[in-house]
Amino acid sequence: MRIEQLHEEFGAEISGINLIDAVSNADAFAAVRAAFEEHSLLVWRDQPISDDIQATFSRGFGPLELVKVGSVGHGTFYSRMNNIGPDGQVVPLRDMAMIVARANQLWHTDSSFKRLPALASVLSARVIPEQGGETEFTSTRAAWERLDAAEQSRLRDAVAIHSYATSRNKIDPGMMTPEEHAALPPVRRRLTWRNPVNGRCALYLASHAGAIEGMAPQEGAALLESLVARATEPGHTYVHAWRPGDVIMWDNRATMHRGRPWGGTLPRSIVRTTISASLADGLEDVLPELWAQRAAA
Ligand code: OGA
Ligand code: MN
Repeated sequence: MRIEQLHEEFGAEISGINLIDAVSNADAFAAVRAAFEEHSLLVWRDQPISDDIQATFSRGFGPLELVKVGSVGHGTFYSRMNNIGPDGQVVPLRDMAMIVARANQLWHTDSSFKRLPALASVLSARVIPEQGGETEFTSTRAAWERLDAAEQSRLRDAVAIHSYATSRNKIDPGMMTPEEHAALPPVRRRLTWRNPVNGRCALYLASHAGAIEGMAPQEGAALLESLVARATEPGHTYVHAWRPGDVIMWDNRATMHRGRPWGGTLPRSIVRTTISASLADGLEDVLPELWAQRAAA
């Protein structure tokens, strides 16, 4: 197994081991898990990929999320994002699939708005457009480490409000169904998530975060926006140009990502599996209620 760094701040390409061996051999898995904790973004090339292979690999890292109500693949492990209609043709730009793609082009971390946040996501591109459609990443751990000590102490214990409606409203206020609104109330999250393996802290930010407790709404929103802008400054991102057979896994505790536009007239199809965070992943660090209990104990 070889590990080659992709960007000086984060990311690594893994080669010499396939996805299934990586989770079924205990020594290999320990090395892969350690690389995940350290590099936050892992890329595999030239993998034969299927839903089963993707789920089996993903499951090695923890329990899988079920796709939420209102998304394609609801109730399964597979979030399917594509612009290909039932007739096999590319859907029009006004189609919900393309509106969802635009929302995914905002910087975010997956599932920060859910009751239980996500440890990691695994993404495979099944149909790749010839131009555009890359996925871009940044390390919010590196972003945290670039803040000075005064800023860190001001932000470390701040609590942000994350809501699916916040990110959807940035694209199209009419995009959520009543079922989605009912299923996805706003949640409180600390602004930092400390990795319990290496003790390194990361900013926990997303397009879903819209307010900060104790701050005036506009002031909180502006602070979140400026933190996202600083985390994603030129030079601090890695753009993944997809090739057939690529599989990417990222740490939602320590990264943000966004899709890049492509001529929406070309087909693109990606499938994501998502791993829920557990206490061993430092979950209590980011949930203010658990954090307060621990601080009081
Ligand atoms: C995702 C995601 C962006 C893209 O799969 O979670 O945000 O389209 N993807 O590459
Ligand atoms: Mn995403």
